[in-house]
Amino acid sequence: MTELIVRKLLIDLNTPFPARWNGGDAFRSAFFSALSMSFSLGEQFFMDSVRAGLKTLPPQDQERLGAEVQGFVGQEATHRRIHGLFNGHLETLGFDNELERRAARRMQENAHRDVRIHVAATAATEHLTAIFADWMLSHPEALEGTEPRLQTLWLWHSAEESEHRSTAFDVYQAMGGNQEWRVRLFRYITITFLADVTRQTIRNLWHDGALFQWSTWRSAYRLLLSPSGMFRSNYAQWKAYEAPGFHPRQQDDTLSRNWLQNHSDQFVPVGQRA
Ligand SMILES: [Fe+2]
Ligand SMILES: [Fe+2]
Repeated sequence: MTELIVRKLLIDLNTPFPARWNGGDAFRSAFFSALSMSFSLGEQFFMDSVRAGLKTLPPQDQERLGAEVQGFVGQEATHRRIHGLFNGHLETLGFDNELERRAARRMQENAHRDVRIHVAATAATEHLTAIFADWMLSHPEALEGTEPRLQTLWLWHSAEESEHRSTAFDVYQAMGGNQEWRVRLFRYITITFLADVTRQTIRNLWHDGALFQWSTWRSAYRLLLSPSGMFRSNYAQWKAYEAPGFHPRQQDDTLSRNWLQNHSDQFVPVGQRA
């Protein structure tokens, strides 16, 4: 079991930021903004799914996983709130969150499915976010030139995603979820998530007027597809999820623990005074 602390972030998110908030780089800004646009609805879905999954478990499993699920829900609720503020600034800048509308329709269409499917989808997304998070913590150039308060926002979220990477997975396993559906949902989530984020990134770039500039796509290559890029360098980590004996704790979370330890002045554990 992992002990999960809910942290209140001590950063200013009232001051607006420009469209190219990520170091003035059009692609990096559009891509991370698209990710942020997916969080509000996504994180609500994760909280609801894991809570609903926990309720189906026998009392001894509820007792074993209850505190961790509570911590997970607390962390995701905080992410959701902070990214809501972040997304509010994007909206003021005229960015249209089409991703959220599409994802909401999809969720409605799938709402009737077994709770195990929802928890499997959550566990799959959590693996993707944990990979993304570890990569962020080891590639500071992804946020180069970004205001410190926004760097803190993204790295704090990354550290907590890495920290709670196994909660949904453990609930799925406790529910008797099988390997076949775990992998099936993982592939489905990978495809839909990438398609959603790609479409929204293009939409954001169009709004920014940077869609047809070479510098935009050079930056895209560097960030995602170069040998150390987020997509290309993480293939093995991505694939690891499909192994029958996989567990999220097999992956190293040192970077997350170090970040949280070295930046403890940036947040207060909820329930304690600043
Ligand atoms: Fe999150
Ligand atoms: Fe998460």
